[in-house]
Amino acid sequence: MKIVLPGGTGHVGRLLEREWTAAGHEVVILTRRSGGGREVHWDGRTLGPWAEVIDGSDLVVNLAGRSVSCRYTPANLQAMMDSRVHSAQVVGEAIAAAARPPRVWLQMSTATIYAHRFDAANDEATGLLGGAEPGIPRYWAYSVEIAKAWERAQAQADTPQTRKVALRTAMVMSPGRGGAFDLLLRLARLGLGGPVAGGAQYMSWIHGRDLVRSLDFLTAREDLSGPVNLAAPNPLPYRDFMRGVRTAWGIPLGLPATRWLAELGAFALRSDTELLLKSRRVVPGRLLEAGFDFEYTHWPEAAADLVRRTRGA
Ligand SMILES: NC(=O)c1ccc[n+]([C@@H]2O[C@H](COP(=O)([O-])OP(=O)(O)OC[C@H]3O[C@@H](n4cnc5c(N)ncnc54)[C@H](OP(=O)(O)O)[C@@H]3O)[C@@H](O)[C@H]2O)c1
Repeated sequence: MKIVLPGGTGHVGRLLEREWTAAGHEVVILTRRSGGGREVHWDGRTLGPWAEVIDGSDLVVNLAGRSVSCRYTPANLQAMMDSRVHSAQVVGEAIAAAARPPRVWLQMSTATIYAHRFDAANDEATGLLGGAEPGIPRYWAYSVEIAKAWERAQAQADTPQTRKVALRTAMVMSPGRGGAFDLLLRLARLGLGGPVAGGAQYMSWIHGRDLVRSLDFLTAREDLSGPVNLAAPNPLPYRDFMRGVRTAWGIPLGLPATRWLAELGAFALRSDTELLLKSRRVVPGRLLEAGFDFEYTHWPEAAADLVRRTRGA
Protein backbone atom coordinates (compact mmCIF):
# COMPACT_ATOMS: atom_id res chain seq x y z
CA MET A 1 0.00 0.00 0.00
CA LYS A 2 0.93 3.64 -0.34
CA ILE A 3 0.37 5.16 3.10
CA VAL A 4 0.39 8.89 3.90
CA LEU A 5 1.09 10.03 7.47
CA PRO A 6 0.32 13.72 8.06
CA GLY A 7 2.13 14.67 11.31
CA GLY A 8 4.11 11.42 11.09
CA THR A 9 7.38 12.82 12.50
CA GLY A 10 6.41 12.23 16.15
CA HIS A 11 6.59 9.19 18.41
CA VAL A 12 3.58 7.39 16.92
CA GLY A 13 4.43 8.33 13.33
CA ARG A 14 7.96 6.96 13.57
CA LEU A 15 6.63 3.73 15.05
CA LEU A 16 4.15 3.31 12.18
CA GLU A 17 6.74 4.30 9.57
CA ARG A 18 9.20 1.71 10.90
CA GLU A 19 6.69 -1.13 11.05
CA TRP A 20 4.95 -0.41 7.76
CA THR A 21 8.15 0.17 5.81
CA ALA A 22 9.48 -3.15 7.15
CA ALA A 23 6.23 -4.79 6.02
CA GLY A 24 6.89 -3.57 2.46
CA HIS A 25 4.53 -0.58 2.28
CA GLU A 26 5.48 2.81 0.84
CA VAL A 27 5.20 5.45 3.58
CA VAL A 28 5.14 9.21 2.91
CA ILE A 29 5.16 11.72 5.78
CA LEU A 30 3.68 15.22 5.71
CA THR A 31 5.66 17.60 7.91
CA ARG A 32 6.00 21.35 8.49
CA ARG A 33 9.76 20.90 8.13
CA SER A 34 11.45 21.44 4.78
CA GLY A 35 10.75 17.90 3.50
CA GLY A 36 12.95 15.66 1.38
CA GLY A 37 13.25 11.91 0.95
CA ARG A 38 10.03 10.31 2.12
CA GLU A 39 8.95 13.58 3.76
CA VAL A 40 6.82 16.18 2.00
CA HIS A 41 6.31 19.72 3.26
CA TRP A 42 2.86 21.00 4.22
CA ASP A 43 1.62 23.68 6.62
CA GLY A 44 -1.11 21.60 8.26
CA ARG A 45 -3.85 24.10 7.36
CA THR A 46 -3.99 25.00 3.65
CA LEU A 47 -4.17 22.96 0.46
CA GLY A 48 -0.98 22.96 -1.58
CA PRO A 49 1.15 20.78 -3.86
CA TRP A 50 1.48 18.29 -0.97
CA ALA A 51 -2.10 17.16 -1.67
CA GLU A 52 -0.78 15.28 -4.73
CA VAL A 53 0.66 12.58 -2.44
CA ILE A 54 -2.84 11.83 -1.15
CA ASP A 55 -4.19 11.38 -4.68
CA GLY A 56 -3.66 7.72 -5.53
CA SER A 57 -2.73 6.67 -1.99
CA ASP A 58 -4.44 3.70 -0.29
CA LEU A 59 -4.48 4.84 3.33
CA VAL A 60 -4.15 8.16 5.19
CA VAL A 61 -3.47 8.20 8.94
CA ASN A 62 -3.57 11.78 10.21
CA LEU A 63 -1.51 12.22 13.39
CA ALA A 64 -0.89 15.98 13.25
CA GLY A 65 -1.42 18.11 16.34
CA ARG A 66 0.49 20.32 18.73
CA SER A 67 2.09 18.11 21.39
CA VAL A 68 -0.07 17.70 24.52
CA SER A 69 3.05 17.50 26.66
CA CYS A 70 3.10 21.17 27.65
CA ARG A 71 1.62 23.57 30.19
CA TYR A 72 -2.12 23.89 29.51
CA THR A 73 -2.07 27.68 29.19
CA PRO A 74 -4.89 29.33 27.17
CA ALA A 75 -2.47 29.87 24.26
CA ASN A 76 -1.28 26.24 24.25
CA LEU A 77 -4.84 24.91 24.53
CA GLN A 78 -5.84 27.07 21.56
CA ALA A 79 -2.85 25.76 19.57
CA MET A 80 -3.81 22.17 20.46
CA MET A 81 -7.34 22.84 19.20
CA ASP A 82 -6.39 24.71 16.01
CA SER A 83 -3.62 22.35 14.91
CA ARG A 84 -5.95 19.34 15.22
CA VAL A 85 -9.08 20.84 13.68
CA HIS A 86 -7.30 22.64 10.81
CA SER A 87 -5.16 19.64 9.88
CA ALA A 88 -8.14 17.27 9.89
CA GLN A 89 -10.14 19.74 7.78
CA VAL A 90 -7.41 20.18 5.19
CA VAL A 91 -6.74 16.42 5.00
CA GLY A 92 -10.48 16.07 4.29
CA GLU A 93 -10.25 18.73 1.58
CA ALA A 94 -7.30 16.95 -0.04
CA ILE A 95 -9.17 13.63 -0.04
CA ALA A 96 -12.29 15.31 -1.43
CA ALA A 97 -10.26 16.89 -4.24
CA ALA A 98 -8.39 13.69 -5.18
CA ALA A 99 -9.16 12.01 -8.50
CA ARG A 100 -8.26 8.66 -6.88
CA PRO A 101 -9.06 9.11 -3.18
CA PRO A 102 -7.70 6.65 -0.57
CA ARG A 103 -9.94 3.79 0.50
CA VAL A 104 -9.47 4.57 4.19
CA TRP A 105 -8.82 7.64 6.37
CA LEU A 106 -7.83 6.82 9.93
CA GLN A 107 -7.97 10.04 11.94
CA MET A 108 -6.23 10.25 15.30
CA SER A 109 -8.51 11.16 18.21
CA THR A 110 -8.02 10.45 21.90
CA ALA A 111 -9.31 8.41 24.83
CA THR A 112 -9.40 11.76 26.67
CA ILE A 113 -12.78 12.36 25.01
CA TYR A 114 -14.39 10.19 27.71
CA ALA A 115 -15.46 11.34 31.17
CA HIS A 116 -13.14 11.33 34.19
CA ARG A 117 -14.62 8.39 36.08
CA PHE A 118 -13.76 5.47 38.33
CA ASP A 119 -17.04 3.53 38.56
CA ALA A 120 -17.21 1.87 35.14
CA ALA A 121 -15.30 1.55 31.90
CA ASN A 122 -16.12 3.56 28.78
CA ASP A 123 -16.71 1.68 25.56
CA GLU A 124 -18.00 3.30 22.37
CA ALA A 125 -21.64 2.24 22.92
CA THR A 126 -22.23 3.02 26.58
CA GLY A 127 -19.30 5.28 27.52
CA LEU A 128 -19.86 8.80 28.81
CA LEU A 129 -18.23 11.63 26.94
CA GLY A 130 -16.50 14.07 29.26
CA GLY A 131 -16.86 17.75 29.94
CA ALA A 132 -19.75 17.85 32.41
CA GLU A 133 -18.26 15.92 35.35
CA PRO A 134 -18.77 17.77 38.64
CA GLY A 135 -15.63 19.22 40.20
CA ILE A 136 -13.19 18.83 37.31
CA PRO A 137 -10.97 21.78 36.36
CA ARG A 138 -12.45 23.87 33.54
CA TYR A 139 -9.51 23.18 31.23
CA TRP A 140 -10.11 19.41 31.47
CA ALA A 141 -13.49 20.10 29.87
CA TYR A 142 -11.69 22.07 27.18
CA SER A 143 -9.49 19.04 26.36
CA VAL A 144 -12.71 17.12 25.73
CA GLU A 145 -13.95 19.95 23.50
CA ILE A 146 -10.74 19.66 21.49
CA ALA A 147 -11.31 15.93 21.02
CA LYS A 148 -14.92 16.46 19.97
CA ALA A 149 -14.01 19.20 17.48
CA TRP A 150 -11.22 16.99 16.12
CA GLU A 151 -13.66 14.15 15.43
CA ARG A 152 -16.26 16.56 14.04
CA ALA A 153 -13.74 17.89 11.50
CA GLN A 154 -13.36 14.38 10.12
CA ALA A 155 -17.05 13.47 10.34
CA GLN A 156 -18.07 16.61 8.42
CA ALA A 157 -15.57 16.09 5.58
CA ASP A 158 -17.29 15.28 2.32
CA THR A 159 -15.34 12.18 1.24
CA PRO A 160 -17.95 9.67 0.02
CA GLN A 161 -15.45 7.21 -1.47
CA THR A 162 -13.27 7.05 1.65
CA ARG A 163 -14.13 5.11 4.80
CA LYS A 164 -13.48 7.18 7.93
CA VAL A 165 -12.45 5.92 11.38
CA ALA A 166 -11.75 8.11 14.44
CA LEU A 167 -9.07 6.52 16.63
CA ARG A 168 -9.87 7.16 20.31
CA THR A 169 -6.38 6.19 21.38
CA ALA A 170 -5.10 5.55 24.90
CA MET A 171 -1.45 6.17 25.88
CA VAL A 172 0.73 4.40 23.35
CA MET A 173 3.40 2.36 25.12
CA SER A 174 6.43 1.66 23.03
CA PRO A 175 10.15 1.89 23.78
CA GLY A 176 12.17 4.87 22.63
CA ARG A 177 12.98 8.38 23.72
CA GLY A 178 10.18 10.87 23.99
CA GLY A 179 7.35 8.36 24.37
CA ALA A 180 5.04 7.99 27.37
CA PHE A 181 6.74 4.79 28.51
CA ASP A 182 10.16 6.45 28.46
CA LEU A 183 8.87 9.27 30.68
CA LEU A 184 7.10 6.97 33.17
CA LEU A 185 10.10 4.64 33.37
CA ARG A 186 12.39 7.59 34.06
CA LEU A 187 10.09 8.74 36.87
CA ALA A 188 10.14 5.23 38.35
CA ARG A 189 13.95 5.04 38.11
CA LEU A 190 14.20 8.34 39.97
CA GLY A 191 12.20 6.73 42.80
CA LEU A 192 9.06 8.67 41.83
CA GLY A 193 7.03 5.68 40.65
CA GLY A 194 4.60 5.69 43.55
CA PRO A 195 0.93 6.66 43.57
CA VAL A 196 0.11 10.27 42.72
CA ALA A 197 -2.86 11.90 44.48
CA GLY A 198 -3.85 8.50 45.90
CA GLY A 199 -3.28 6.63 42.62
CA ALA A 200 -6.87 5.45 42.11
CA GLN A 201 -7.20 7.23 38.73
CA TYR A 202 -7.29 4.77 35.82
CA MET A 203 -4.60 4.52 33.18
CA SER A 204 -5.63 3.31 29.75
CA TRP A 205 -2.80 2.12 27.55
CA ILE A 206 -2.08 0.22 24.36
CA HIS A 207 1.14 -1.57 23.49
CA GLY A 208 2.76 -0.10 20.34
CA ARG A 209 2.67 -3.48 18.67
CA ASP A 210 -1.10 -3.71 19.18
CA LEU A 211 -1.52 -0.15 17.95
CA VAL A 212 0.05 -1.11 14.60
CA ARG A 213 -1.88 -4.39 14.46
CA SER A 214 -5.19 -2.66 15.23
CA LEU A 215 -4.59 -0.08 12.47
CA ASP A 216 -3.91 -2.94 10.02
CA PHE A 217 -7.13 -4.58 11.23
CA LEU A 218 -9.18 -1.39 10.82
CA THR A 219 -7.74 -0.81 7.36
CA ALA A 220 -8.78 -4.28 6.24
CA ARG A 221 -12.24 -4.33 7.81
CA GLU A 222 -14.56 -2.60 5.34
CA ASP A 223 -17.46 -2.81 7.82
CA LEU A 224 -15.89 -0.60 10.51
CA SER A 225 -16.21 3.18 10.52
CA GLY A 226 -16.76 5.97 13.07
CA PRO A 227 -15.17 6.13 16.54
CA VAL A 228 -13.14 3.12 17.69
CA ASN A 229 -11.34 2.86 21.05
CA LEU A 230 -7.69 1.84 20.74
CA ALA A 231 -6.91 0.68 24.26
CA ALA A 232 -5.90 -2.65 25.82
CA PRO A 233 -8.88 -4.42 27.44
CA ASN A 234 -7.54 -4.03 30.99
CA PRO A 235 -6.98 -0.44 32.13
CA LEU A 236 -5.77 -0.25 35.73
CA PRO A 237 -5.36 2.29 38.54
CA TYR A 238 -2.25 4.48 38.32
CA ARG A 239 -0.77 2.98 41.50
CA ASP A 240 -0.92 -0.54 40.02
CA PHE A 241 0.26 0.69 36.65
CA MET A 242 3.39 2.23 38.18
CA ARG A 243 3.92 -0.84 40.35
CA GLY A 244 3.99 -2.79 37.07
CA VAL A 245 6.69 -0.48 35.68
CA ARG A 246 8.74 -0.81 38.90
CA THR A 247 8.44 -4.58 39.02
CA ALA A 248 9.45 -4.92 35.36
CA TRP A 249 12.59 -2.83 35.93
CA GLY A 250 13.32 -4.16 39.44
CA ILE A 251 12.70 -1.02 41.50
CA PRO A 252 11.38 -1.95 44.94
CA LEU A 253 9.99 1.41 46.04
CA GLY A 254 8.18 4.38 44.59
CA LEU A 255 7.59 7.50 46.62
CA PRO A 256 3.96 8.59 46.77
CA ALA A 257 3.22 12.16 45.73
CA THR A 258 0.40 14.48 46.67
CA ARG A 259 -1.55 16.38 44.03
CA TRP A 260 0.35 19.50 45.08
CA LEU A 261 3.76 17.84 44.57
CA ALA A 262 2.61 16.53 41.20
CA GLU A 263 1.67 20.10 40.20
CA LEU A 264 5.15 21.23 41.16
CA GLY A 265 6.79 18.38 39.21
CA ALA A 266 4.64 19.01 36.14
CA PHE A 267 5.56 22.69 36.29
CA ALA A 268 9.26 21.80 36.41
CA LEU A 269 8.86 19.42 33.45
CA ARG A 270 6.80 22.00 31.47
CA SER A 271 3.97 19.47 31.37
CA ASP A 272 0.48 19.24 32.87
CA THR A 273 -1.05 17.10 35.61
CA GLU A 274 -4.18 16.37 33.56
CA LEU A 275 -2.10 13.69 31.82
CA LEU A 276 -1.59 11.89 35.17
CA LEU A 277 -4.63 12.82 37.22
CA LYS A 278 -7.56 12.38 34.86
CA SER A 279 -9.07 8.91 35.28
CA ARG A 280 -9.17 7.40 31.79
CA ARG A 281 -11.04 4.13 32.02
CA VAL A 282 -11.47 3.12 28.41
CA VAL A 283 -12.00 -0.32 26.88
CA PRO A 284 -11.95 -1.53 23.25
CA GLY A 285 -15.61 -2.52 22.85
CA ARG A 286 -15.75 -2.39 19.05
CA LEU A 287 -12.37 -3.97 18.40
CA LEU A 288 -13.17 -6.95 20.64
CA GLU A 289 -16.63 -7.32 19.15
CA ALA A 290 -15.10 -7.34 15.67
CA GLY A 291 -12.74 -10.15 16.71
CA PHE A 292 -9.46 -8.25 17.15
CA ASP A 293 -7.00 -10.31 19.12
CA PHE A 294 -4.70 -8.22 21.36
CA GLU A 295 -1.15 -9.51 21.86
CA TYR A 296 -0.88 -7.55 25.12
CA THR A 297 -4.00 -7.55 27.26
CA HIS A 298 -2.48 -7.11 30.74
CA TRP A 299 -0.05 -4.42 31.81
CA PRO A 300 2.54 -6.55 33.71
CA GLU A 301 3.33 -8.59 30.57
CA ALA A 302 3.37 -5.48 28.38
CA ALA A 303 5.67 -3.65 30.83
CA ALA A 304 8.03 -6.64 30.98
CA ASP A 305 8.26 -6.67 27.18
CA LEU A 306 8.88 -2.91 27.01
CA VAL A 307 11.61 -3.11 29.65
CA ARG A 308 13.24 -6.03 27.84
CA ARG A 309 13.31 -4.07 24.61
CA THR A 310 14.48 -0.86 26.31
CA ARG A 311 17.39 -2.77 27.88
CA GLY A 312 18.12 -4.50 24.57
CA ALA A 313 18.39 -1.16 22.80
N1 LIG B 1 1.41 9.19 21.89
C1 LIG B 1 0.29 8.84 22.51
O1 LIG B 1 0.32 8.10 23.50
C2 LIG B 1 -1.04 9.34 21.98
C3 LIG B 1 -2.23 8.88 22.55
C4 LIG B 1 -3.44 9.36 22.06
C5 LIG B 1 -3.47 10.27 21.04
N2 LIG B 1 -2.29 10.71 20.52
C6 LIG B 1 -2.32 11.70 19.41
O2 LIG B 1 -1.72 11.10 18.28
C7 LIG B 1 -1.00 12.06 17.54
C8 LIG B 1 0.43 11.57 17.35
O3 LIG B 1 1.00 11.34 18.61
P1 LIG B 1 2.57 11.53 18.86
O4 LIG B 1 2.86 11.07 20.23
O5 LIG B 1 3.31 10.98 17.71
O6 LIG B 1 2.62 13.13 18.84
P2 LIG B 1 3.87 14.07 18.58
O7 LIG B 1 5.13 13.32 18.85
O8 LIG B 1 3.61 15.34 19.31
O9 LIG B 1 3.77 14.32 16.99
C9 LIG B 1 2.72 15.02 16.39
C10 LIG B 1 3.19 15.67 15.10
O10 LIG B 1 2.26 16.69 14.76
C11 LIG B 1 2.93 17.71 14.06
N3 LIG B 1 2.47 19.01 14.54
C12 LIG B 1 2.78 19.63 15.70
N4 LIG B 1 2.19 20.84 15.77
C13 LIG B 1 1.51 20.99 14.60
C14 LIG B 1 0.73 22.04 14.05
N5 LIG B 1 0.56 23.20 14.69
N6 LIG B 1 0.18 21.86 12.81
C15 LIG B 1 0.39 20.71 12.13
N7 LIG B 1 1.13 19.69 12.61
C16 LIG B 1 1.69 19.84 13.82
C17 LIG B 1 4.42 17.57 14.29
O11 LIG B 1 5.04 17.30 13.05
P3 LIG B 1 5.97 18.38 12.27
O12 LIG B 1 6.61 19.24 13.34
O13 LIG B 1 6.96 17.49 11.56
O14 LIG B 1 5.07 19.11 11.36
C18 LIG B 1 4.54 16.36 15.23
O15 LIG B 1 5.59 15.50 14.88
C19 LIG B 1 -1.11 13.37 18.30
O16 LIG B 1 -2.13 14.15 17.71
C20 LIG B 1 -1.50 12.93 19.70
O17 LIG B 1 -2.28 13.90 20.39
C21 LIG B 1 -1.08 10.26 20.95
